[in-house]
This record gives sequence, structure tokens and C-alpha cells, in this order.
Amino acid sequence: MAILKRLAETARPAVPFTLDGQACQALAGDTVLTAVLTQAESLRQSEFSGAPRAGFCMMGACQDCWMQLENGSRLRACSTFIEPGMRLQSAPLPPAAVPGTLAVAAWPEDDIA
Ligand code: FES
Repeated sequence: MAILKRLAETARPAVPFTLDGQACQALAGDTVLTAVLTQAESLRQSEFSGAPRAGFCMMGACQDCWMQLENGSRLRACSTFIEPGMRLQSAPLPPAAVPGTLAVAAWPEDDIA
């Protein structure tokens, strides 16, 4: 269930985007944070604990709202406007999935039980 409910300004043009591969719709002028939290219970998962996060300050100060795009770039959701076709991820991508990063190979000893 969404954490935010839109009560006003519902006539703005629709802006399509995806969240974890699912088609979603925001309204023109929404921040990424508003766009996501009108669709989901949380903004992202903490890269440290995996706990759900939803931003805190809403003004670009706390750094709690960093999200990743499918191409690996990151944005601060409270101070970035949603754009048509944005492909957002709520969980950090593994490094090997991000273009331009090196994959981490397991050591052969890791397979020894
Ligand atoms: S919510 Fe604090 S920086 Fe975005």
C-alpha cells in the first residue's frame, strides 16, 4: 500500500516510469520521492541493513533518499523531478549489474565446504 495519498492537483499530466520493472505513473512536477511513495510503502532498501527507507528531511539534507536507476546512476529522490521513462530501483543493484563496474569473482576456496 502506498505511503502517500494524493489529495490535490490531480489534473497534472501523467508521467510514466518504472519501479523495480513495474509500470507506474506519476504526475508532472512530482519529485521522484513523491512519485514512488504514492505507489509503494517505501522508497528504497538501505544498502547497509536492507531496512525500508522513505526519506527523512525532504529538503536535500539527510541523504536518506538516494535511489538507483537501472543504468546504475544514482539520484536524490527528494530533490529530483520525475521524468518520463525513468527506470527506478528500490534495492541497490549488485556491482556486476551496473555498467562500467567490475564484477567480483568468488575465490575457488569459497566452494569448499
Ligand atoms: S529526504 Fe533527506 S536528502 Fe532527501
